[in-house]
Amino acid sequence: VFTPRNIIVTGGAGFIGSNFVHWVVDHHPETHVTVLDKLTYAGNLENLAGIPDDRMDFVRGDICDAELLDKLVPGHDAIVHYAAESHNDNSIADPEPFVRTNVVGTFRLLEAVRKYGIRYHHISTDEVYGDLALDDPAKFTESTPYHPSSPYSSTKASSDLLVRAWTRTYGLRTTISNCSNNYGPYQHVEKFIPRQITNILTGVRPKLYGAGLNVRDWIHTEDHSSAVWTILTRGRIGETYLIGANGEKNNIDVLRMILRLMGQPEDAFDHVKDRPGHDRRYAIDATKLRTELGWEPRHTDFESGLKATIDWYANNPQWWEKTKAATEERYKRQGQ
Ligand code: NAD
Ligand code: DAU
Repeated sequence: VFTPRNIIVTGGAGFIGSNFVHWVVDHHPETHVTVLDKLTYAGNLENLAGIPDDRMDFVRGDICDAELLDKLVPGHDAIVHYAAESHNDNSIADPEPFVRTNVVGTFRLLEAVRKYGIRYHHISTDEVYGDLALDDPAKFTESTPYHPSSPYSSTKASSDLLVRAWTRTYGLRTTISNCSNNYGPYQHVEKFIPRQITNILTGVRPKLYGAGLNVRDWIHTEDHSSAVWTILTRGRIGETYLIGANGEKNNIDVLRMILRLMGQPEDAFDHVKDRPGHDRRYAIDATKLRTELGWEPRHTDFESGLKATIDWYANNPQWWEKTKAATEERYKRQGQ
């Protein structure tokens, strides 16, 4: 068992990274966190509000900056790497930042890990496996071949391959996790669930891509955090673990649930242009993580997790109002 005392969390001011930082601060008083985050459009220091000064340092910086990493990494015992360009639609409109941050950024971190000999956990996505047919009984496992579809997922797949090669060639102490779709507080309003909740809160009709039959495998972000901690501390070095909580739902059902929970008619939404290359279905088989490391999700009732998420957006308009208009402007230009 590895006991991390002093970890760097890259992308700790984003959605999942900040939820992880809160989770570590709440559950592991022995661990100090250094957040390294560039504060792109997706990063927000308000996500880290309320964390005591003696538990966390914040460094604004770019994971592609090798000099900065040379200053920052020594003295830490692990890096948990969340920082990424994370949104598929943005990657279709402008892929270059995805190659830079997701591929080159991961390369820089691996070089620093190699130089300073510290533990590294790599956060990745189920999208590296491509998609499944809607009627296919199969789910993704750790041995499913890589087959990414979008600029986003291909850069995440590239970064996973770098981690594997650096581990085998240089003997780095790494693990990788590939998780399904997260939901919960602090998720940017460009993403499906927050976009629709905040549309309804601002009197705009939700926007569904195509027929809405695409399936995503939803997991609450707190369950992602507990899984990452489990793998960081007890995972076998050099291994990949899939993270998921059996949360498969199609988009139209999720949207109807949001509308119902928010007191709207279930047909009060618009169909808009589909995403090019839109993956049909993701589904995770997390047997390895459950049986080998004994991890279990806690948020197994999607409807109550979704209700709590709706309440969070309804109660925190100051958090999302500033970014909402610019986000919708971008979508409008894409006809979505
Ligand atoms: P996000 O877009 O909300 O946050 C990304 C964070 O990274 C932001 O704070 C941003 O400022 C920071 N960042 C971006 N480029 C940077 C750079 N060059 N240097 C330093 N910081 C930089 O993303 P998210 O949804 O929280 O996703 C976090 C990670 O989890 C990503 O690696 C993503 O691929 C992975 N993931 C996401 C999901 C999901 O459902 N959202 C599921 C599985 C895996
Ligand atoms: O599977 C994990 C991935 O989940 C992560 O790697 C990504 O970082 C994360 O963004 C997410 O990717 P998706 O593309 O699945 O998420 P998104 O929230 O963009 O869309 C979810 C589904 O909803 C997808 O089928 C597209 C659809 N959609 C999305 C938006 C924004 C709509 O129908 N309408 C919308 O307005």
